Amino acid sequence: MTVVPVYKQGWTMDDVHWSLFDPQKVDRTLLAAVKAAALVEYNAPDYVAYLKRVFAGEGSEIMAQLDQWGREESQHGRALGRWAEMADPAFKLEDAFARFRKGYTPPHFTSGQDGSVRGSRRGEMIARCVVESGTSSYYSAMRDAAEEPLLQEIAGRIAADEYRHYKLFYDTLHAQTEPDLGFWKKLWIAVGRVRESDDDELAYSYYCANVLPEQEALLPYNRKKYSRAASAASMTVYHRKHVQKLVQMVVKVLGANPHGWLANLAGALLWRRLSAKSA
Ligand SMILES: [Fe+2]
Ligand SMILES: [Fe+2]
Repeated sequence: MTVVPVYKQGWTMDDVHWSLFDPQKVDRTLLAAVKAAALVEYNAPDYVAYLKRVFAGEGSEIMAQLDQWGREESQHGRALGRWAEMADPAFKLEDAFARFRKGYTPPHFTSGQDGSVRGSRRGEMIARCVVESGTSSYYSAMRDAAEEPLLQEIAGRIAADEYRHYKLFYDTLHAQTEPDLGFWKKLWIAVGRVRESDDDELAYSYYCANVLPEQEALLPYNRKKYSRAASAASMTVYHRKHVQKLVQMVVKVLGANPHGWLANLAGALLWRRLSAKSA
């Protein structure tokens, strides 16, 4: 059995063992996925500003937790980006990120409006838990799939953070004084958030991370094409167990049994969908 090291909260870039890097063990498909993930993670400050508006007037503790969360997400972007720069010197995190930012901003981040686009704070926390379930399982899968030792460590550190983020938002969800939402409403929000994964964020981050500016004229952005490429690259790391864990975490947020029929059915359906998308 492989023993997975336990990474505590609050690690810094200096704690990472950069000297472990072994260029011989870099997988090109995984490298493409890591570059794209770096851009999405590095975009965290917008999400912090948005969530602070959602929780406006709720006191300094939640604001400090959101700041800490955003710092950790940005650091995920820096760590993945630095690894990608080591693996491919043509890749520059800051340049690729500038292009991504220029072409992608979700509308609810620029409206300046208070309140959640999910209709309530509980709704917002459910959507956040869905995202953290996704990232937690994705980086666990990346850690398990990577043969390159430095990437194994970075993905392991990030996976541990993402699981803690899930817990933070899960606890925040249950601390809300707003009335609880019905099961179908919760499911609607969760499915809605999963469907947003089909939007430009993943496809365009993959494009900006993997198509150099000088190749743009020859390879123009096409959402469908790059969404498919992004899914195919990230799916190479997944095993059924990672997808099942993801589904269990989401089902728990809905208030249903993470080991019951709903989790089993959803796990099977999602695995089928993901496998088909990357085929
Ligand atoms: Fe993250
Ligand atoms: Fe996270």
